[in-house]
Amino acid sequence: GIKLVTIGGGSSYTPEFVEGIIKRYNELPVKELWLVDIEDGKEKLDIVGNLARRMVKKANIPMEVHLTLDREAALQNADFVTTQIRVGLLDSRIKDERIPIKHGMIGQETNGAGGLFKALRTIPVLMDIARDMQNLCPNAWLINFTNPAGIVTEALVKYSKHKKVVGVCNVPINMKITIADLLGVPEEKVQIEFAGLNHMSYGTDVFVDGESKLAEVIELLAKPENQLSMNNIAPLPWEGEFIKALHMIPSPYHRYYYKTKEILANEQKEYQEGKTRAETVKELESKLFELYKDPNLNIKPPQLAERGGAYYSNVACDLISSIYNNTGDIQTLNVVNNGAISSLPDNTVVEVNCTVTNKGPIPLAVGALPSPINGLIQQIKSFELAAMEAAVTGSYEIALLALCINPLITDDGKAKVILDELLEAHKEYLPQF
Ligand code: G6P
Ligand code: MN
Repeated sequence: GIKLVTIGGGSSYTPEFVEGIIKRYNELPVKELWLVDIEDGKEKLDIVGNLARRMVKKANIPMEVHLTLDREAALQNADFVTTQIRVGLLDSRIKDERIPIKHGMIGQETNGAGGLFKALRTIPVLMDIARDMQNLCPNAWLINFTNPAGIVTEALVKYSKHKKVVGVCNVPINMKITIADLLGVPEEKVQIEFAGLNHMSYGTDVFVDGESKLAEVIELLAKPENQLSMNNIAPLPWEGEFIKALHMIPSPYHRYYYKTKEILANEQKEYQEGKTRAETVKELESKLFELYKDPNLNIKPPQLAERGGAYYSNVACDLISSIYNNTGDIQTLNVVNNGAISSLPDNTVVEVNCTVTNKGPIPLAVGALPSPINGLIQQIKSFELAAMEAAVTGSYEIALLALCINPLITDDGKAKVILDELLEAHKEYLPQF
C-alpha cells in the first residue's frame, strides 16, 4: 500500500484532497494518509483530520488517517509527499497584499511584491522539508502546491539534493474546464497546449479529437460574456481585438499584467473596505472550519468551491496516480525545462504539458515562445530567478533587484520603500535576512 504524506494537512483544502484520494482508491490504493502540521495549526489539523476520518469511514475504504505534528515520523518511508503550507498563515498574506497596495502597486500573493515575499518566506521551509525527505524517504516524490509554485519548485530542483520534485497548480485544469464548457464538449475531450511559467502560462492551441479549435475558442473569448477566470481574480473582460490579435489564451492571472490599472483600482477599493482577497479568505476559512466541526458532516462541503484552489485535488491525485500506474498520459506541470521551450534555459522550471510516467513527468516539446508572449515570460523568469536567489542568499540587493525587474513594480524608489516595509513586517519568517 502507498504511504502518502501531506504537509500543511490542517489546511481548509484538505477535504478536497481526501475526496480525490477516496474517488481513486481502486487505481491508487493509499494505505496510510499522514496529515502533518505545526503547533500553531494543531486545532485546525484536529478538526479537518476528524472530518477526513469521517469521509474515509463513509467511503468504507481501509485507509488509515494519521494526524501528527512530528514531520520526521510522518516522512519515514513515504512514497509521495504533498506540500500545501502557508508560512505565516493568512495574516502574512494580508500584509503581502495590503503593503504594496498602500504604495500604489498591485498587492497579490503570487504576483509582484507579495509573490516575492511569499517566495522569501516559503523557500527556506521547503528546503528543510526536501532535506528531511532526502534522509527519510529518498525515493518519494515531492508534489509542491505551495506558492509561488514555480519559484519554489525551481529553488528545490536547483538547491536541494532531492530532485524528485514537481510543482502543481489548478489554473491549467480550470482553463480546460471553462473552455470545454464554452465549446460544449466533455472535459476529457479537450487538450490545451500550454507554454510559459506558473501563473504566467498561455494556451497556445486547443484540440478536440485531434482537431485544432483555437480559432473558435478565440472567437468565444473575444466576447465579454465569456470570461475565463477563478474565484480569486475579478473576471474583468478582455478587449476582443486584443484577444484576436494575440491568438492565444491568456491565463486568469494575466489580468494583473494587461489590466494593471483596473485591477489596482479594484484592489484599492477592497483595501479601503478591509476586504482584500486574504481578508475575504480568512472569513471564508473560519466559516469552513465551523462546518468541518459538525460531527455529522462526512463529505467535502460545497462551500469549499468558493476558494480559488477548486479542482486542485484532481491535479494532485491524477499526478500521483499516473506516476504510480505509469500511465503516460498528458498533464500540465511545473518541471525542469530540459529543452521543451527552446527560448528558455534548459535548467529552469517551466509550466508545460508533460507525459507522466513512473520516472516522473517528461516535458513535451513546445519550441520557441511566440514573439507576442516571449517578452513578458522572459521578464517574469528574470524576476523568478532573482527572487529565488534572494530567498536562498538573504541578499537585500538581490531582493531589491527582483522587485525592480518585476513589471508590476514601476519605480525603484518605491520598490525600496515597499521592500523595507515588507522585510520589517515579515521579519520573524525571514531567518535568511
Ligand atoms: C488559484 C491558484 C492557486 C492559489 C489560489 C488562491 O487557484 O492557482 O495557486 O492558491 O488560486 O485562492 P484563494 O481562495 O486562496 O484566494
Ligand atoms: Mn496556482
